[in-house]
Amino acid sequence: RNVKRQMACRSDINSFNAPFLAVFESLIPADEEKVKQKQLMMLLEKHVSKEWPEARLHVYGSCANSFGFSKSDIDVCLAMELGNIDKSEILLKLADILQSDNLQNVQALTRARVPIVKLKDPVTGISCDICVNNVLAVVNTKLLRDYAQIDVRLRQLAFIIKHWAKSRGVNETYQGTLSSYAYVLMCIHFLQQRRPAILPCLQGMEITYFTIVDNVECAYFDQVEKLQNFGLRNGESIAQLVWAFFHYWAYCHDYANDVISVRTGSTLSKRAKDWTRRVGNDRHLICIEDPFEVSHDLGRVVDKYSIRVLREEFERAAEIMQYDHNPCVTLFEPY
Ligand code: GTP
Ligand code: MG
Repeated sequence: RNVKRQMACRSDINSFNAPFLAVFESLIPADEEKVKQKQLMMLLEKHVSKEWPEARLHVYGSCANSFGFSKSDIDVCLAMELGNIDKSEILLKLADILQSDNLQNVQALTRARVPIVKLKDPVTGISCDICVNNVLAVVNTKLLRDYAQIDVRLRQLAFIIKHWAKSRGVNETYQGTLSSYAYVLMCIHFLQQRRPAILPCLQGMEITYFTIVDNVECAYFDQVEKLQNFGLRNGESIAQLVWAFFHYWAYCHDYANDVISVRTGSTLSKRAKDWTRRVGNDRHLICIEDPFEVSHDLGRVVDKYSIRVLREEFERAAEIMQYDHNPCVTLFEPY
């Protein structure tokens, strides 16, 4: 690994820009899909406001953070004052209301880690998960969307990385690999670290957006339209960035000691965060700090088996980016 750390990028790397951009373009959802999502949201809003006039519905996750592929499910958050009413009670009631409006497969999963109502709209074919008061997810969705506005290379890189992770079976938290949210944070951190930097650290700048959610302060600079030129001093192409991203995770990241942190725009030490040993089922074999819930490691799901799978996949991808004749195909071959 130490030898490969010094490895220079292949000289023909830029010949892969066009094919990587074609992969990216092919995954972007069409406008008509956005229209259908809006229709479904309006239908849900109609039902919700009838039953709970003060409640609000927010879209979060990939349909709202600008990192969604075509045909993604919609993640929706129902935000309301609960008082001493139980979340499950609300979800059961919601499932009941929606069931009667010929939506398909309406199911309340009240015992899941994040309790939800699941449903499918027969008109649009869109599936949707509705949770209650997961407002932090709505705020971190905005942070991701704001970062995506600064430099197009973030969206391009994250699409390619997510597509790779899904193709290779390493985007399954229940199997000990990483969430899409974790991969996007890895991309943001990586672009913050380029020299010159391609992305700034929004949480290290003047505060223009502030909210407190579940006792967590969320504060950062959100006037991203003023940062349109931020990345221009760095001329790296998408193929170079994909190469460097995998190179970093295969050969350069210090898994034993480092935590990546979008919040600080740098890496922190595991020791400083006290993320040095396993606590219950949470391990810290790859550490990705949540930008707002700083005690939350998005790598906690990774265990001693899946860390090997992940690192072997990073190494495979790095080798393909360095030597393969057709990396835009080989990278995404099913496992
Ligand atoms: P795909 O559905 O795979 O396209 O990606 P996604 O962007 O919807 O991501 P994912 O399903 O991983 O998560 C959905 C949203 O839930 C994310 O955008 C975050 O806002 C939120 N989220 C996911 N995991 C966590 C977590 O561990 N902590 C917090 N606070 N939020 C999370
Ligand atoms: Mg999702």
